[in-house]
Amino acid sequence: MTTVTLPPGPATPRAVQAAYALTVARRGVRQMRERYGDAFTVNVPIFGRALVISDPAEIRQLFLAGPDDVDNLASNLGRVLGPGSLFALAGEAHHRQRKLLVPPFHGRRLAAYEKVVEDETVRELASWPHGRPFATLPSMMRITLNVILRAVFGAEGAEFDELRELLPRAIRLGSRLAVLPIPRVGRGRWSPWARFWAMRREYDAIVDRLITKATRDADLDGRDDILAMLVQSRHDDGSGMSRGELADQLLTLLTAGHETTATTLAWAVERLRRHPAVLRALVEEADAGGRELREATVIEVQRTRPVIDLVGRQVKAESFQLGRWTLPKGFTVLVSIDLVHDAESVFPNARAFDPYRFLDTRPDRYQWVPFGGGTRRCLGAAFANMEMNVVLHTMLRDLTLVPTRERDERWHSRGVANAPAKGGRAVVQPRTRS
Ligand code: HEM
Repeated sequence: MTTVTLPPGPATPRAVQAAYALTVARRGVRQMRERYGDAFTVNVPIFGRALVISDPAEIRQLFLAGPDDVDNLASNLGRVLGPGSLFALAGEAHHRQRKLLVPPFHGRRLAAYEKVVEDETVRELASWPHGRPFATLPSMMRITLNVILRAVFGAEGAEFDELRELLPRAIRLGSRLAVLPIPRVGRGRWSPWARFWAMRREYDAIVDRLITKATRDADLDGRDDILAMLVQSRHDDGSGMSRGELADQLLTLLTAGHETTATTLAWAVERLRRHPAVLRALVEEADAGGRELREATVIEVQRTRPVIDLVGRQVKAESFQLGRWTLPKGFTVLVSIDLVHDAESVFPNARAFDPYRFLDTRPDRYQWVPFGGGTRRCLGAAFANMEMNVVLHTMLRDLTLVPTRERDERWHSRGVANAPAKGGRAVVQPRTRS
């Protein structure tokens, strides 16, 4: 029998409460780090007992481990998005689907979406009030939803409008359900899960119509939306994706690509208003046609305000040696993104917002992990970077963002993503060029 070696952690039943806080709030993990160090064991709803790690060497080992050793957690996100979603798949099935989904996200293809992002941003900025405070998050959500809908489904149409109306509601509810245990009782007609499944049926019907249209489209080859590409894609054995798989995968892209990007953008506004020197330098850089500091800023916003707290894996082997720890089969490992980003040993003066730390160096992929890592690293990372870059550039080009001395906005959990509590409040003025 293998001896299990785990770090200490809080004892139940308090642990259940403390660990619950861990799934919804950063404060919980920071308190545990103070008490137990960079790794500890908790008891988390949904996942049970889990090891939380934040040491880059252990993170690296976890991300590089093969699917026979560790794989995806059977999280509620998979249940919410459907059995064909990348989030629900493991091992070979995941690898097979991911291979079909990678080509639409290649750098070359992404350039084609830059204009879509710029157009959506310009349209949204036109509705911003001048000279009085407002929350930018709802705007960022509209921009990223419209961008991902257009990238995924292409041209606008009746279905586009129906999805634009349905998806924000479905995603809002779905991302809350994804972090809650599925109740064994009380799943009546009006329960949140029942309401969610009803929306899901509506979504499936709309997507089914879109797939039918695509399969009959004589110009399918000439389209560069993701639906068109996936309808034509084939596995190595020549088979295509089923309608169910397509619907699950498209919902996965829409959901994963929308709120995460929008909340990061709202944090960017929140951070920049509190760092006027960086803001000034960004405006000058944008006017001069540069992008290096803007790219470094997006990296620093994600380091200091990662919108997703945790990335999880489950041990599949009989036993798995992870750095100092020996884990039994079925055990959950959670990478605390916030803790590694906040570690002084990794990022000196970690609490300071300083984009210049990334100006001439790209971050290490096991120290800077807002997109997770390994074979399950965020599929849309390059898409998200392109999008955040274009939105920020357009905003700095067309408007003056007014700095503030207000206190930092607190973190507010929206379920899957952590947003600034006041929605990334901004005051803007029309841009006057000297
Ligand atoms: C700032 C924006 C984003 C953040 C912070 C983010 C973060 C993440 C994280 C932490 C994971 C889990 C990775 C792991 O388990 O190692 C993930 C997975 C994923 N993300 Fe993103 N994401 C963002 C934007 C996007 C966009 C724009 C898309 C699509 C257009 C997308 C699609 C996906 C998909 C499909 C997966 C599942 C990958 C798999 O299991 O193979 N994400 N993302």
